[in-house]
Amino acid sequence: MKEKIFIEGRKKLSGAIPISGAKNSCLTLMPASLLSESALTLNNVPNLTDVETMNTLLRSLGCVVHYQKADKTLNLKTSDECLFLADYDIVKKMRASILVLGPLLARHGQAMVALPGGCAIGARPINLHLMALEALGARFSIENGYVKGKVGSRLKGCKIEFPFQSVGATANTIMAAVLAKGTTELLNVAREPEIIDLCKCLKAMGCKIEGEGKSRIIIQGVDNLKTTRHSVVMDRIELGTFIIAGAITNSDIKLTGGNTALLENFISKVSEVGIEIHQTKDYLQVKRENSSSIKCTNILTEPFPGFPTDLQAQMMALLSIADGVSKIEEQIFENRFMHVPELIRMGANIEISGREAIISGVDRLKGAPVKATDLRASVSLVLAGLVAEGQTEIDKVHHIDRGYEDIIGKLTSCGAVIRRY
Ligand code: UD1
Repeated sequence: MKEKIFIEGRKKLSGAIPISGAKNSCLTLMPASLLSESALTLNNVPNLTDVETMNTLLRSLGCVVHYQKADKTLNLKTSDECLFLADYDIVKKMRASILVLGPLLARHGQAMVALPGGCAIGARPINLHLMALEALGARFSIENGYVKGKVGSRLKGCKIEFPFQSVGATANTIMAAVLAKGTTELLNVAREPEIIDLCKCLKAMGCKIEGEGKSRIIIQGVDNLKTTRHSVVMDRIELGTFIIAGAITNSDIKLTGGNTALLENFISKVSEVGIEIHQTKDYLQVKRENSSSIKCTNILTEPFPGFPTDLQAQMMALLSIADGVSKIEEQIFENRFMHVPELIRMGANIEISGREAIISGVDRLKGAPVKATDLRASVSLVLAGLVAEGQTEIDKVHHIDRGYEDIIGKLTSCGAVIRRY
């Protein structure tokens, strides 16, 4: 495994970059295949290690998985002899593994899933997942690092109000409720495009869902689901990342397959700092206003439709070369500034106080050896390396393979000097 990325900075980019299907959507859609014996075919599935990990987990649960890389199609089919143990060795690699819990309980009335544990960006508990599934009738115990769930006969629809929005807990609860008896009313649910994508796919499978994209969702349980084909929504976080790649290198690039409608808050922030974005029918064009410098701004990460936490590290790389002082407040995860010490090694001037980072723009970043700590932190270092003077070497880049399909190929095709070794 090549664990390092080398970048020779300050090259202008030009050309077009295709945006892939959304990692987070795939990881949410794939467990839906456990809900029934009917086949689920997903199109536009990116070739990522997180998708491979979910494939491994689904196989371990009895699902027959076939991924055709060439046309990005994933076929999933789980017979009735499905197993219900999600092993720690797989779950520890990826927190999204918890998304098999709801489907397994709904279909088989039992599940045993390893506790995902902490992760680099914070504690990330699963209490909301358990609270909602309990309300639907599941009973849980924690034994030897596993959460064991059982359902008496069948899950029963009910009213559930989430104390705050959680993408994962919303997805798990929706997937459980679609097979529950009667009506489920979910309040204060996550409104992310990936939740809408999940509901769209479940509806095509025969589920009865109303209200996706709003904070109240109503689900009527059904008995059977049907064979379905669904195309995964585009990756809005990848789109935002490449918008910053164009902006930070002061380049004029085109992004194909992207849609700014899913990123409004982010787009208005990048416009505020001086980036022009034109959406045409075929592509999205990114360039700096009059090639001028980046302006400073203040950012608060919030659930959708607010500024996404998954674009916070990338935006910080951009603001580190802005004119003036910017502030970023991270409201979603308590420990999501792991990229800061590394950006500082590259010459950024950033101070952290609790959940706030104060970024005093510098004229230039300078290439340095740095270390990737999590997925979005790694890509923020790639962005910094693209604009830094000299050479940047990023270590531990396996994180980037979890969520960015062929990032080296995509950037190289636009003239970046970047390679893996
Ligand atoms: C998903 C995304 C992740 C993104 C995050 C927030 C996937 C696979 N991952 O993660 O990329 O950064 O949404 O947009 O889609 N929380 C609890 N208890 C729970 C569940 C969550 O306290 O039971 C907290 C979390 O610690 C966090 C906040 O709620 O502080 C939001 O987390 P959540 O929306 O659940 O994130 P994930 O679904 O894990």
